[in-house]
Amino acid sequence: MSYRRLLNVVLLGTAISVAACSETDEYAVEPQSGVDYHSFANTEDYRVKHVDMDLTVDFSRKVIEGVATLQFERVGDGKSPLILDTRDLTIESVHAGGSGELQAVTFSLGDNVDIRGAALAIDLPADASTVEIRYQTSPAATGLQWLEPQQTAGKRYPFLFTQAQAIHARSFVPLQDTPGIRMTYSATIRTPAELRAVMSANNDPDAEKNGVYTFSMPQPIPSYLLAFAVGDLEFKAMGPRTGVYAEHEVLDAAAAEFADTEAMLEITEEVYGPYRWDRYDLLILPPSFPFGGMENPRLSFITPTVIAGDKSLVSLIAHELAHSWSGNLVTNSSWRDLWLNEGFTTYLTYRIMQFVYGDERYQMEMSLGYADLQTDLDELEDHDELLAIDVHGRDPDDVFSNIPYEKGALLLFEIEQKIGRAAFDQFLLDYFNKFAFQSITTEDFLAHLERTLLKAHPEELDAKRIREWIFEPGIPEGAPHPQSDAFMHVDTIRENWLSSAATAAEIDTGNWTYHQWKHFLDGMPDKLSREQLEDLDQAFELTASTNNEIAFSWLRITIRNDYEPAYDRLEDFLVSIGRNKFLVPLYKDMMTAGMDDMADRIFQKAKPGYHPLTVKRNSQIIYPE
Ligand code: BES
Ligand code: ZN
Repeated sequence: MSYRRLLNVVLLGTAISVAACSETDEYAVEPQSGVDYHSFANTEDYRVKHVDMDLTVDFSRKVIEGVATLQFERVGDGKSPLILDTRDLTIESVHAGGSGELQAVTFSLGDNVDIRGAALAIDLPADASTVEIRYQTSPAATGLQWLEPQQTAGKRYPFLFTQAQAIHARSFVPLQDTPGIRMTYSATIRTPAELRAVMSANNDPDAEKNGVYTFSMPQPIPSYLLAFAVGDLEFKAMGPRTGVYAEHEVLDAAAAEFADTEAMLEITEEVYGPYRWDRYDLLILPPSFPFGGMENPRLSFITPTVIAGDKSLVSLIAHELAHSWSGNLVTNSSWRDLWLNEGFTTYLTYRIMQFVYGDERYQMEMSLGYADLQTDLDELEDHDELLAIDVHGRDPDDVFSNIPYEKGALLLFEIEQKIGRAAFDQFLLDYFNKFAFQSITTEDFLAHLERTLLKAHPEELDAKRIREWIFEPGIPEGAPHPQSDAFMHVDTIRENWLSSAATAAEIDTGNWTYHQWKHFLDGMPDKLSREQLEDLDQAFELTASTNNEIAFSWLRITIRNDYEPAYDRLEDFLVSIGRNKFLVPLYKDMMTAGMDDMADRIFQKAKPGYHPLTVKRNSQIIYPE
């Protein structure tokens, strides 16, 4: 897109955050700390403080229509129009004003220019502090998934959920869609009377089921944490502050699987400071949810694919809960700084798992994370291996990898090892308190580190090395290498089996947890013989595994080795699950193995049930340009 054209759309002279770009090469400038390249919002002129939404959910048209009322503060000279982010919204009218009555104002909606969507520029009266926008979403909204009844557990009612991170809130509400801005919100969600709406806010499980639900979120949050879902939902308490929302069919299983949530909450508070969000509930989504989990405040959104029956995959809950500190309380200022959210959260996840389940589990979880990191370091280009990643001109959805998660956590683990746990826990506690309800950049973190730990531990820590972690690819020489005693034992067993010293049936896997299975399978050589595959499958019924992580690791092996007895299961897996963490590697593996036709056939069959993000991501794999 030409930059000039955009400026024409949003009115010439408006200072928008990317105005430094030249006309010919809009991404010619160095990426800058603290600049959000993914938002049009002129946050140097206006800062939205509160959003009120009155939204009607129309399942028959797959459209949300309603009114968003934004209250904002002026921080500039007040002469510029207010610029908001939108994508695929139809704007019906805009009113604005100060304390008195609002008046109709002129506005212009730009074209959908690039990954950012379309800028909405609103001309404001001099005293304006409120705008009221009447609008509709599009059925193709990237932040919404509309599910048919057959995609739900109960098969009787439709379902709708939002996924705003990273830049999809703008597809269902016009706002300053940048993690650098925080706002409180209130909402009325109108639904068919037999359904219930829940939000990243003060849910009331006892609210009368009548199709009109009201919410408020008194703590200021960034726009990517705005969330709601509508479905045939019930509630079950797990502890005094924790509970589950889910369809009736999965409610009991979910409450049993995640019964340790309250204990996780208590221990995290004890070590890292008070939980500031009142309640912590889970919402179990249908299996098309494109992520494992999403840390929507007070109500984490969770894939049902982790309900394994043995609590083996509950680190996901520890992760989403940990975001209540790292991410929701102290927030990355732009998507370049995502590692501040995900790296700190991954570090906290391991710690929570150790507190609740002990050392062996801790070691295994960390080792699996380290293996994921190694895979990405083998595959990614150097510039995608930095913690502070250059996302300028790129869709954050396409930049997603284990780097911000596992490399970020490994950096924190190294600091912990060097200065000791007590000192590092104290640092984290202070960090969460100091930056509570603020959005910070990597440089803010580094400056804080200079003032605190680097000063207190000059012998152990070195500013240059920390910069190397953050701004260089790979991991620095001598970085810690998490290991697990239990996995070493698994390695020996795998070696024995591979050298034909034992058949699979002779292996004592009596009390292996999912972690050991995953390590066992992921450590297999690329090529296995048909006999070896049959031996494994017969002894361990891997094709029939009901643990989705084990099934996933096994299916990857079967694709590499053309083991077609598993292909019905593969198809079923790809059609019934929408979680990209599974789908992306499986479709990639199929393409590498020359199974293009099968990938295409299954994708076309599954596509109507996939989330827009899942369709986009996997299309890029199956139909490369
Ligand atoms: N906040 C993320 C999900 C996310 C990240 C969505 C970036 C969009 C852009 C969430 O907390 C997350 O990390 N989910 C992981 C969980 C896993 C690492 C335990 C997932 O969904 O797999
Ligand atoms: Zn996360």
